[in-house]
Amino acid sequence: MSLQAAQHDFSLYIHLPWCLHKCPYCDFNSHAVEIEALPEQQYIDSLILDLQQSQAQFKQRKVKSIFIGGGTPSLFSATSLDRILTACRQLMELTTDCEITLETNPGTFEAQKFAEFLASGINRLSIGVQSFDASLLQKLERIHSAKEAIVAIETAQSIGFTNINIDLMFGLPGQTVEAAKADIQQACTQQVSHISYYQLTLEPNTRFYRYPPEDMPDQDHSWDIQNHGIRQFAQAGYDRYEVSAFALPNQQCRHNLNYWRFGDYLGIGAGAHSKISSASTVTRNQRTRQPDSYMQAVPCKKHVLRSRTLSEDELVFEFLLNNLRLVDGFSPAAFAASTGLSEQILLNALAPALEEKLLQRQQQQIRATERGYRFLDELLQRFLPGTQCI
Ligand SMILES: C[S@@+](CC[C@H](N)C(=O)[O-])C[C@H]1O[C@@H](n2cnc3c(N)ncnc32)[C@H](O)[C@@H]1O
Ligand code: SF4
Repeated sequence: MSLQAAQHDFSLYIHLPWCLHKCPYCDFNSHAVEIEALPEQQYIDSLILDLQQSQAQFKQRKVKSIFIGGGTPSLFSATSLDRILTACRQLMELTTDCEITLETNPGTFEAQKFAEFLASGINRLSIGVQSFDASLLQKLERIHSAKEAIVAIETAQSIGFTNINIDLMFGLPGQTVEAAKADIQQACTQQVSHISYYQLTLEPNTRFYRYPPEDMPDQDHSWDIQNHGIRQFAQAGYDRYEVSAFALPNQQCRHNLNYWRFGDYLGIGAGAHSKISSASTVTRNQRTRQPDSYMQAVPCKKHVLRSRTLSEDELVFEFLLNNLRLVDGFSPAAFAASTGLSEQILLNALAPALEEKLLQRQQQQIRATERGYRFLDELLQRFLPGTQCI
């Protein structure tokens, strides 16, 4: 087994786990906090220490992207985010064009603060808009109005952010096709470079899961909404390059592309996941989830939980789980480089799905067919570790 991935793209994820309000559909590791109670200094200290302790994992790797996610990281001051980014520059080698994204909520938008974020090197914003429809925003218990979302986008643009993603969700309670089309129309009018379009899912451990809204659309209706959306995005010049990601030319999210291509990344902060290749193995680990426990554990070096090396079956599954999300698919050579396994292992695993035309191969590229893409979850189940296909 020889892993070329150990020399390839590397990303850093930084998790900031607090929000002003916990949305009823959200299963992310995020906790409601009063702004005055945010343990900002202590948490940044912990992140810096975590990064220092992780140096062996990114030695000789060039960092091509950093993603500061959450939660709502824009709750933190520009000074705090500058402190962690300065530590990144001191401890890591960042590429000159390193993509540095900050996740934001329109309810926490202040022009001055965002100008300071830009000055500290943050060159991409991901704004959680969800919808521009007042009644849907209310059902989702969002802390901002549609107007505030538009002002946030336009202010960010006027400050000088040229690389902006907005998150939209569809399949919302009571949402009509027309309402969904109006959301996309508004999003495209804002001329952002990237739009993430997620179907609302009822995640266990959320209020919506325990008490589902009565007017959730059924799967056919959501499928209808999504198909209209895909056509609208294409007409507006947004290329669908992943299940939920649409970008103007050359504006794909480098950080997420690295995940989908099964690249390596270090995740620091409460609950963050990492995936790191060495010359012969691929290892995953996760950090302590509760923010307080994380801050207590870092100084004693007890914050990294559940480190494990992926088996051959898991490598095949996880490679496909990520790469099959990409419209362009992947090459067998990329599989070999990032898993250290032979191309033949992959081709054997894929043979039945190729035969059934759920996958197609054109020269060196393998991708899902239209039917395979529609039933991607079912297709992926075939490759679950321990199933007969591998
Ligand atoms: C971690 S949130 C970050 C954005 C920011 N916290 C906000 O909500 O404004 C990332 C995105 O995940 C999406 N998301 C969260 N929960 C979801 C769910 N249950 N189903 C589909 N998408 C979801 C939302 O679009 C959200 O903007
Ligand atoms: S603001 Fe974002 S991260 Fe926070 S609870 Fe809502 S969706 Fe989740």
